[in-house]
Amino acid sequence: MIILDGKITSNDIKNEITEIVQEMKNKGEKVPHLAAVIVGNDGASLTYVGSKVRACEQVGFESTMVRMPNTTSETELLREIKKLNENPDIDGFIVQLPLPKQIDTQKILMAVNPDKDVDGFHPTNFGRMALDMSTFIPATPFGILELLERYNVETKGKHTVVIGRSHIVGRPMSILMGRKGFPGNSTVTLTHSHTKNITQITSQADIIITALGVPGFLKAEMVKDDAVIIDVGITRVPDETRERGYYITGDVDFEAVKEKASFITPVPGGVGPMTIAMLLKNTLLARERHRE
Ligand code: GUN
Repeated sequence: MIILDGKITSNDIKNEITEIVQEMKNKGEKVPHLAAVIVGNDGASLTYVGSKVRACEQVGFESTMVRMPNTTSETELLREIKKLNENPDIDGFIVQLPLPKQIDTQKILMAVNPDKDVDGFHPTNFGRMALDMSTFIPATPFGILELLERYNVETKGKHTVVIGRSHIVGRPMSILMGRKGFPGNSTVTLTHSHTKNITQITSQADIIITALGVPGFLKAEMVKDDAVIIDVGITRVPDETRERGYYITGDVDFEAVKEKASFITPVPGGVGPMTIAMLLKNTLLARERHRE
């Protein structure tokens, strides 16, 4: 069994990006600038955005964090997005999800200039992805593709089962694994809360990608020998004995499933750090496109 180590791989990617940024600086060019908008005080979202901003600093990007209160109206957020769309200094920006109830998420995502949509959530970019056109691929699915590629995991002709149909992970993942090329050329089954006999389906899978947020959902009896297991679940479980008051766990019963898997991602240290590295990669891509 081989651990797909997202920590090491994301560090490799960050080092590659750092070198490119250094070259930009040496030539006197503007470095990539990422902005992140966060509305409200959700602890997990603040942690994620903090990590994204820190990662920008690590590789030499400029970054801007825009914090807005939980009571922000849709109009106020749309005004902020317009400012970021029009600010020539900003190469790409993200609006951290989830948003407070009073705000229509789809309306917000559609307001982001697709050329600055480094999350790849705008319908134009999602459509471009589905049509194999160059675009910003959403960071988490992009990170999974990168892990599969760098570890040379065979995907051609394999049966990939995706669990969860979220717009951020499951849905794009199901499209990407079925595309032509590598990693891709897979036969994909997209499962969700209405899927019947899920064990029957997962136990036929060569590759399983779980993005549910249900700790320990994927058990050893649901997995065939030598399957590739990608765990996208990140759940905070309260635990007073820990310094932070919680620990992070995935969708996979890791200890049992690892005995059967050929490759497996740990949580933490698997897909999570890859997401951040790929957001940086998309921001670099945005800068390069704006230069052209
Ligand atoms: N919330 C959970 N994952 C993501 C992500 O990749 N981007 C944004 N903007 N919000 C998220």
